[in-house]
Amino acid sequence: MTELKIKEREMIGFSNVTDDELLNYMAAYSASHYERLRLVVRKTEGAWLYDENGKKYLDCLAAYSAANQGHHHPRIVKAVTDALTGGYGSVVSNVVYTDALGLFVKKLSNLVPQLGPRFGKNGNKTLLKNGGVESVETAIKMIRFYGWKSKGIEDGNQEIIVFSNNFHGRMITEVSFATTKKYKEGFGPLTPGFVTVEYGDLEAVKKAINKNTCGILVEPMQGEGGMYIPPDGFLKGLRELADKHDLFLVFDEIQVGLGRTGKMFCFEHENVVPDGIVLGKAISGGLVPLSAFVTNSEMMDLAFRPGAEGSTYGGYPLACVAGCAAVDVIVDEKLPQRAAEKGAILKKKIEGIAARSTHVKEVRSRGLFIGIEVKNGDAMKYCRQLLELGVLANDSHGHTIRISPPLIITDDEIDYLVERLEKILID
Ligand SMILES: Cc1ncc(COP(=O)(O)O)c(C=O)c1O
Repeated sequence: MTELKIKEREMIGFSNVTDDELLNYMAAYSASHYERLRLVVRKTEGAWLYDENGKKYLDCLAAYSAANQGHHHPRIVKAVTDALTGGYGSVVSNVVYTDALGLFVKKLSNLVPQLGPRFGKNGNKTLLKNGGVESVETAIKMIRFYGWKSKGIEDGNQEIIVFSNNFHGRMITEVSFATTKKYKEGFGPLTPGFVTVEYGDLEAVKKAINKNTCGILVEPMQGEGGMYIPPDGFLKGLRELADKHDLFLVFDEIQVGLGRTGKMFCFEHENVVPDGIVLGKAISGGLVPLSAFVTNSEMMDLAFRPGAEGSTYGGYPLACVAGCAAVDVIVDEKLPQRAAEKGAILKKKIEGIAARSTHVKEVRSRGLFIGIEVKNGDAMKYCRQLLELGVLANDSHGHTIRISPPLIITDDEIDYLVERLEKILID
């Protein structure tokens, strides 16, 4: 097996195949479904990425919040390593139980405040999948089932209210109700049963409700859609409408949950409790895929009986072991609080730059989730410059530079970032 040792030179990370060769491999053998920046990452640690020469890049994307705890967090690495060397990491048929699954669903169900208290106060239950979009699918099934079983809507007629510029993942159902053309063009037939209204517009939601409406699926702050915080009172208004019309309200917190915005859950900014929540990304600390749908225990029991849901790897031991450690790190290291504190410092500095910049249109932020909208609408132009300067960031919806570093970012690292933002945003 010589593949990994093509050249006699020092190796960083997995192989010593050169960047140029790897880019050729990618061009020849990989789907081109991402527009990638020219950086081949060989190693990651904390808030940093390393290229083939050992050059460091501050990771201000954190894999869209998957690496909130920082890359290769020692506690999560230890948990995963122990599972592999101890012989309890491998996937096991879901026809039996594992202790890792039991412990993780207990931990996660208890981390989330009582969801949907109008249905009962016996706690929450969790259903695990792998990628985030799979748990969005579970949430959609839950909402539709509720509409049929509890509200008496004829099966097949259920409607769910969703929002403009939403992003809930890339499976056919989620792209069917996306408002971004390139996500769905040519992939029809699309999944029916969704009604789209303007994000933040409560009046439009009211108008969209009819006898077939069974629920609402919303991001409490939009990530991919342009880093938008909804107007004050929007989430509360959705809660009131959901209560009034008996709708099942689900928040997709895959990108903004688990500390990112300065609270454990983004919905806590408005003191609103949904009926169900979707989590992913940081839930397993960036090492293995894991996602979750969490809801009131009565509702989970209502919708999901044996045969109604399932996934071979969903909730397999390695993911659950990583999940236990990942959640412990978020709690023990007070990462939501840290995101609030470091986010406030960074926001102030970025606003200072914005005030002197001719390039910046608006800064929008919550915790360590910061969007810098640029006037020319081409955020990637600035991201490419940042990369040259040793910072990885990308655009959100084309027009906004997304800054979402690992929540463990230090003051020195913030200064490093600010220095570089200053260079690209001040003429
Ligand atoms: C809000 C939201 N929902 C769903 C998803 C899909 O998650 P995944 O890419 O893990 O399927 C994402 C991914 O960025 C997201 O930000």
